Amino acid sequence: MSVDDDIQKAASLIKEGGLVAFPTETVYGLGANAYDDKAVAAIFEAKGRPQFNPLIVHVATVEAAREVVHFNAMAEVLAKQFWPGPLTFVLPRKDKRVSYLVSAGLETLAVRMPSHLIANKFLAACEVPVAAPSANISGRVSPTRYEHVAEALADKVGMILDGGASEVGLESTVVDLTTEVPVLLRAGGVTLEDLEKVLGQKVIVSGESAPAAPRSPGQLLSHYAPSLPVRINAEYAREGEAFLGFGKCEGATLNLSKSGDLKEAAANLFAFLRLLDKAEDFSGIAVAPIPSVGIGLAINDRLRRAARR
Ligand code: TXA
Ligand code: MG
Repeated sequence: MSVDDDIQKAASLIKEGGLVAFPTETVYGLGANAYDDKAVAAIFEAKGRPQFNPLIVHVATVEAAREVVHFNAMAEVLAKQFWPGPLTFVLPRKDKRVSYLVSAGLETLAVRMPSHLIANKFLAACEVPVAAPSANISGRVSPTRYEHVAEALADKVGMILDGGASEVGLESTVVDLTTEVPVLLRAGGVTLEDLEKVLGQKVIVSGESAPAAPRSPGQLLSHYAPSLPVRINAEYAREGEAFLGFGKCEGATLNLSKSGDLKEAAANLFAFLRLLDKAEDFSGIAVAPIPSVGIGLAINDRLRRAARR
């Protein structure tokens, strides 16, 4: 079957209330018809995800996004600059048909238009907004390849679309645009610097400490966790540890980017954590220091959470 046939079949499954895992430029998503309560509930069940975590609604066009949420001036400016791409807006809900399971009962919705070609074609063919978290078991490392999804969810989804390795490799940046001063809820592919520059105004970074009822599961302190303990800002590996290096460093088991390229490191992060986690002879994973600039902030955010038990 051709890729286009697969996409049509996947879209039919969505319309029938099924689950489809699909590639995006950030990570693979586990999608369902956002209008269908039962289908959305099946996402939570497949992931074993706590129900209070709201999901992102994925769309193929800016027009479709404007149907789902009330756009404002900031959203227009950001969409023009960064869509399609790894940026999610939280805005007031407009489309009453979107299941309240998607927003965890909130009157806001998170919406994003991915740039991955297969994601875009798939979303267009679905003709409904598609709710999708990352396609992994809750709390585990997010999937950046077809095989990662197949390992964990093969028997729980109707279909997995193969789109190769995710180019960005980290989840989208989530920005709350419902307040006068926008709030960065999750660091990601689009950096804080990028957002402030394009908006021409300050963006508040939501606090490090997890609130009692998290606004964003990206804010849970322990998340993105491999099963081995992770030790960050390590200069070298201790006895028994694997060493995940960055830039020029001695004795790395794997190196996120030998040339010290943060984008390359982000794209490799989740896949390399999985590889080291699976190699049976290690007792832990030591990770070299990553500079906290640009997408390095998002990498360190995920590493801190992976390191917390
Ligand atoms: O890159 C991505 O965003 C991937 C791909 C599949 O698109 N999706 C993803 O979804 O990472 P998930 O469910 O793992 O993360 C969704 C994030 C969470 O941090 C969630 O709390 C936040 O979006 N979110 C969703 N709806 C929200 C809302 N109404 N208010 C505040 N945060 C919201
Ligand atoms: Mg996730």
